[in-house]
Amino acid sequence: MSIHQNIFLIGMMGSWKSTVGKKLARALNLKFVDTDDEIEEATEQKVAEIFEERGETQFREMETAYFVEKSLQPGYVISTGGGIVVSEANRNALKKNGHTIFLKASPETLSHRIKNTDKRPLLHGNDPLMKLSKIWKDRKEFYETSAHLTIETDRLNPGQVLEIIIKKLEANNAIH
Ligand code: S3P
Repeated sequence: MSIHQNIFLIGMMGSWKSTVGKKLARALNLKFVDTDDEIEEATEQKVAEIFEERGETQFREMETAYFVEKSLQPGYVISTGGGIVVSEANRNALKKNGHTIFLKASPETLSHRIKNTDKRPLLHGNDPLMKLSKIWKDRKEFYETSAHLTIETDRLNPGQVLEIIIKKLEANNAIH
């Protein structure tokens, strides 16, 4: 199978971007990166520590600097942090530099899936479902307008999501 451009996975925290992204990269023989992991490696800090010590604005700056540059290098599946769509520069890169897949799930589904909040300081404290619902309301339109393809994942497992993505990419002639 060959691919014409990068594949970007977007969606809220817990939408399986990394789980599905790794499987997709393997299936298509592409390289895989996760923006949060790259930032953690470069700073030698956990995402939660970066938020705490440097603040969210600085995290967003690092995220955008990394993603915009990486999006221009071909041959990658890139799993993005849930907040990638907040930046206009990122939204432009998602539109122009690859095929962007939005993994959609309801806040209820996401709250059941999320166990680890080390990478998710925005969910620290009480009532993660309420926090997810608010974030979803603020970002919904950005996810929808940045995506070339949307997959509803509420009733699926990661393997089924992968199968649907591959079928749709083939149907769109994005891979052959
Ligand atoms: C964030 C999502 C996280 C991480 C950070 C902020 C967000 O990534 O980048 O905690 O703003 O939605 P995941 O979507 O991989 O959990």
